[in-house]
Order: sequence, then C-alpha cells, then structure tokens
Amino acid sequence: MADPWESTMDHAVAIARKAGEVVRDALRGDRMVTTKSSAVDLVTQTDQKVEQLIIQSVKEKFPTHRFIGEESVAAGESCILSDSPTWIIDPIDGTTNFVHTHLTVTSTLDLQVEFGVVYSCIEDKMFTARRGRGAFCNGEPLQVSQQKAVEQAIVATEFGSDRDPEVVDKIFQSLRNVLCLPVHGVRGAGSAAMNMCLVASGCVEAYYEIGVHVWDVAAASLIVSEAGGVLMDVEGGEVDLMSRRIIAANSKTVAERLVKTIVAFSPPRDDAA
Ligand code: IPD
Repeated sequence: MADPWESTMDHAVAIARKAGEVVRDALRGDRMVTTKSSAVDLVTQTDQKVEQLIIQSVKEKFPTHRFIGEESVAAGESCILSDSPTWIIDPIDGTTNFVHTHLTVTSTLDLQVEFGVVYSCIEDKMFTARRGRGAFCNGEPLQVSQQKAVEQAIVATEFGSDRDPEVVDKIFQSLRNVLCLPVHGVRGAGSAAMNMCLVASGCVEAYYEIGVHVWDVAAASLIVSEAGGVLMDVEGGEVDLMSRRIIAANSKTVAERLVKTIVAFSPPRDDAA
C-alpha cells in the first residue's frame, strides 16, 4: 500500500537540514538576543527566521496543514491541536546553548503522531522516527539501554527557565532525590529534544523535566517510544504533551522509580486559553 506520509517526512528531513545550515551560519556572527517569559527565556532572530523558513516551506507543499511553532505561539498564535495534520516545530531547541555557542542545538519538527525529526546540526545527527516503523539516527536503528537498575543509570534533566525561588527549590529537591537514589550520574545537554534522543540512543537511561513545552518534546517523544522507550507523566500514568511535564525512560521500571522520586508540580499548560 502507498505510504501517504513518506514524502511528507522526506520534506521534513530536507527542511531540517536547511534549518541546520541557517543555524550553523548564524553561529559565526552576532546573535540578536531578546527575552520572552523571563529574563532567562531567550529568543534570537535566528529562532524566528528558522521557524518562518520551516512554515513557509511546508505551506507551499501542504497548504492545508496547520502549525504549532514555538515562536508563533510566543507571538500570540494558539497552541491547540485539531484533527487537521499539525506540525509542531521548535526552530532551535537549546536557544541558550545557541546564544552561548555551546555545542548542542537542535531543530525539531513533528507531524503529530505520524513522524518526528530532530536535527542536531552541529554534530550533523539526523534523528527520525515513523509511527510503528522504528527510530533512527543517520539511518542507523536506535535502541534504548537495557539497564533497568536505576542505581546504575545516568539520568538527564534540565533546570528550565523559571527562576521563581519556590519552583527552583522543587527542581533542586528532585535533583537531590535522584542523586541520592543513588544514580551513576546526572547530565543535561541543554536541549530537551537532545536529552530524549540520548535516551533513544541508549546513552542515558532516562530524562525528566517539569517546565518543558510541547514543541521541545513532541518529535523526540516518538523517537523515544519507537526506540523501545517509555513516556510517563511525573506523577505516573500517560504523558500529556501539553502538560509541560515528562519522563522519557528506557523502561517502565526506571520511569516508575523516577515517579516516586520527583517532586511534582504543574506549570500553566501550553494549551491553556
Ligand atoms: C528549552 C530547552 C531546555 C529546557 C527548557 C526548554 P528552547 O527549549 O529544551 O533544555 O530546559 O525547558 O524550554 O527554549 O531552547 O527551545
């Protein structure tokens, strides 16, 4: 049977490469930085330029498709999923890394449920997944780690961009609890999508964060589950990508240990009116 999504996904991979070129070029010059929700929630002209490039290119080929893009939502567009094919886009995941010329920066594109693309442009690693057809990095199949003992795990997390002291205290309580399980180590790439691709690649056993957005995690969620991993809410149960809370792990066993360890809280949802 003809595969209706194959050419769409090929297009996503091609635009992700183009986005990567723009990001790599911009790393050689000045990056015009402004802020969004807080003094440390950064955005650059390159984030906006790359998002427009992706949207324009998809619109030309698929005029009925819809979009949830990080910078379009910041500019006031809605963040609601409908039944129409919807692309969820993070033009630069790891904007703070980008501003500081730190190595990990990705562009992420997800056509809700059907496929996910995360391009780590500096390393030239193209992570892809199709629903029911596996996850890949540069065409090589991905498989999560088989280590189920959390005491022998590496766990990735991030501190996010909320600097409310109460929120920061909760983040540090969770970090303390995770370190004291104990785990072998805690890491953070500075990009939610890249942390999740590390789970999918078997390099770390789990990633958790409260405060992420749907565009940070949508594409990588499919990559994790197609690599054999598990997605869970930080209080257990199914993950809700609009809830801004996520555990991505190599197994239910590791995810459930984290549920017992993380101090949960609920930031305002992405789809809140
Ligand atoms: C951020 C990064 C960061 C995570 C934040 C995200 P952005 O995305 O993924 O690692 O801690 O929660 O919002 O702003 O660089 O696209």
